[in-house]
Amino acid sequence: MDKIVIEGGNRLIGEVTVSGAKNAVLPLMAACLLVDDWCELTNVPELRDIETLKVLLRFMGAEIEEDPAAGKLRIRAGEIKKPEAPYELVKTMRASVLVLGPLVARCKRAKVSLPGGCAIGARPIDLHLMGLEKMGANIEIEHGYVTVSAEHLHGEKIYLDSPTVTGTENLMLAAVYADGETVLENAAMEPEVVCLADALNSMGADITGAGTDTIRISGVKALRPLKHTVIPDRVEAGTFMVASAMTRGNVLIKNCNIMDLETISVKLREAGATVDEEPDGLRVIGHYPIRSVDFRTQPFPGFPTDMQAQMMSMMSVASGLSVILETVFENRFMHVSELKRMGADITINDRTAIVKGVRGLSGAQLMATDLRASASLILAGLVAEGTTEVSRIYHLDRGYEKIEDKLLALGAEIKRVKDNG
Ligand code: UD1
Repeated sequence: MDKIVIEGGNRLIGEVTVSGAKNAVLPLMAACLLVDDWCELTNVPELRDIETLKVLLRFMGAEIEEDPAAGKLRIRAGEIKKPEAPYELVKTMRASVLVLGPLVARCKRAKVSLPGGCAIGARPIDLHLMGLEKMGANIEIEHGYVTVSAEHLHGEKIYLDSPTVTGTENLMLAAVYADGETVLENAAMEPEVVCLADALNSMGADITGAGTDTIRISGVKALRPLKHTVIPDRVEAGTFMVASAMTRGNVLIKNCNIMDLETISVKLREAGATVDEEPDGLRVIGHYPIRSVDFRTQPFPGFPTDMQAQMMSMMSVASGLSVILETVFENRFMHVSELKRMGADITINDRTAIVKGVRGLSGAQLMATDLRASASLILAGLVAEGTTEVSRIYHLDRGYEKIEDKLLALGAEIKRVKDNG
């Protein structure tokens, strides 16, 4: 297993190009199940989660061609032999449940392993199932699997108790072939949801309101194959923004949607960083001392939960007290115990973290616990005194494309080595 080794203390200087968004590619790959001809996605990053979904699509009978160097992925779900997602694949990636909607829409039946809890919380899929049931599907749960069947899905008004991202996407994917109009209320407004709606509309779907809390989907009889370019990864962009601010760096972040990074920019400016729009992207310049800021995670356009851990790393070396409230997931502070091993002063009380900035962190041997926690430990390592080793980086490889190469090019002293322990 690999680990990342960092010698802290270098400022990050230069330019970095952000990859395509993992959370946008996954629903687009699921959308390819809606048609029986070749679909093509571009700006696709090389990530473990995307590999997992490829394995699942192949398992179901899809053909896949790829040109990783060009960021191209072609998928043809000519015949879906097994409309099923087995436990082994869903347990490694919850987002596998995104195949549920398109499978029911196209094959009238789908059997998908129920995702269990994960490191950051219980993360149920009850809202996905409630929506499908309202649209006329029959739901059966047995032996850890949910089987959803429907001769015809029909349009319905569906209110989501919480604005679930993959739930909104799953229901949009299911509703494209339904009879009549489906209305999703309190829908997720994330840019990845908008990317999926744009992609489905380019296939001939009739979706309005994506990006607001009410999405209307009028069912259509047929769709064309998908050809779409994946939006840039706002979490990767945000991670580099924090990395630059935290290391007193000066980094131009290219290929990013500035509008999608607004809340992160606001918080970094509050913390004393300069964040400037340039024709090519966003330039982030860090200044010391870093000012402590309070923030709460929220669904888009609020501060993203996927950036909480990275921002907490920065707050751990800021000049005062920062209060961080995690409202999206109930157990997303797994990185705290590792940051404390580096000398951070953090107290957790239920969903609140109180971070008292310290003068400096010291390098340590650390264990990554989930995807974004891994990134936060690498950021901490960049400013720590001495050597930091982050193991279990398979979490990192789920969602960050070549992060060590990108950081190295910005001047970090970082390498990936085989972890024989
Ligand atoms: C997606 C993102 C993930 C991000 C998260 C929140 C993908 C592939 N993953 O995950 O990176 O951290 O959004 O921005 O896009 N909930 C229910 N019932 C449901 C579904 C969700 O109660 O049926 C709750 C969850 O427990 C959680 C909240 O809703 O508290 C938000 O979760 P959700 O938006 O569904 O997260 P994901 O779509 O799994």
